[in-house]
Amino acid sequence: MPETATSGPVMPRTLLSSAQLDAERLVALLDLADRMREAWPAPPRMLDGKAIALVFEKPSLRTRISFEIGLTRLGAHVVYLDQGESPIGDRESVRDFTRTLERYADAIIARVRRHSVLEEMSLCARVPIINALSDAEHPCQALADAMTIRAACGRLSGVKVAYIGDGNNVCHSLLLTLGALGACVTVVGPSAYTPEPSVLTLARERALASGGSVALEFDPDAIAGHDVIYTDTWVSMGSENERDERVEAFQRYRVSEAAMTRAARDGKVPFFMHCLPAFRGVEVDNAVIDGPTSLVYEQAENRMHAQNALLTMMLGTSAEPKNGAHP
Ligand code: CP
Repeated sequence: MPETATSGPVMPRTLLSSAQLDAERLVALLDLADRMREAWPAPPRMLDGKAIALVFEKPSLRTRISFEIGLTRLGAHVVYLDQGESPIGDRESVRDFTRTLERYADAIIARVRRHSVLEEMSLCARVPIINALSDAEHPCQALADAMTIRAACGRLSGVKVAYIGDGNNVCHSLLLTLGALGACVTVVGPSAYTPEPSVLTLARERALASGGSVALEFDPDAIAGHDVIYTDTWVSMGSENERDERVEAFQRYRVSEAAMTRAARDGKVPFFMHCLPAFRGVEVDNAVIDGPTSLVYEQAENRMHAQNALLTMMLGTSAEPKNGAHP
């Protein structure tokens, strides 16, 4: 693998939404991520001398550690700022926060409660802003998921993925990403918890162009005939006060061994995916998440390789010079 950033498609200056990555960018990114994984644990120090700020308003295991360890192995200096007790914009304006931070850091990776904070940061920032999860999307997760499915199935085009459960931020980014890559995705869940209509529309447009498809189903048995079953928590961070009603609404959608057997395509039990953290015995049974077709720890590892590829491409090909004029 090359010692310097690759040439390839120009990357967006920020990554707030998976919609910013078209098929060409996605394929280049996944290819580089695969090479990053092959080179692990000694990838080339492609981010030598770069300083990266991680700013998190919410707890994290995978996102924080995969960014910290992954980017450090590429030579970057990574600083973690815990904003759990003080949301961005509380102590000082989002603008002052962002424009101060960019004087120290070459990129800002932020996990926020409100997506609008990321949008405000990106409007005033001249360094890349990367969404490490917001209430709207989780684009870094979707990159790792696409990488994981491609490795497990040998392709993405025509792969049938059933996302069962809540039409949340993870679901949004998954639809936008897999839709652009030719996969056929079915969201299966209660009618009151479907993805945002605007995301569905955009994901369908992307799928139409890629030869894939995006469908919505309410019957739990609609998971039949899929290569991959993906689920996530029924109670995302921020929805805790709705726990009881959500658990009741989603009860029929729990991924059990029997459900996995029903989901088989051509007699083959599907792969199981979950972005974690999981509530074992709630949205998924232990026998499934610990079963032979579970990819959950592959997904977790691939977060690191996909994000390493993302940062290398964003900083290597399209980061704006630090001395540029402020907007
Ligand atoms: N999947 C994911 O984002 O995990 P964390 O919340 O632990 O970062």
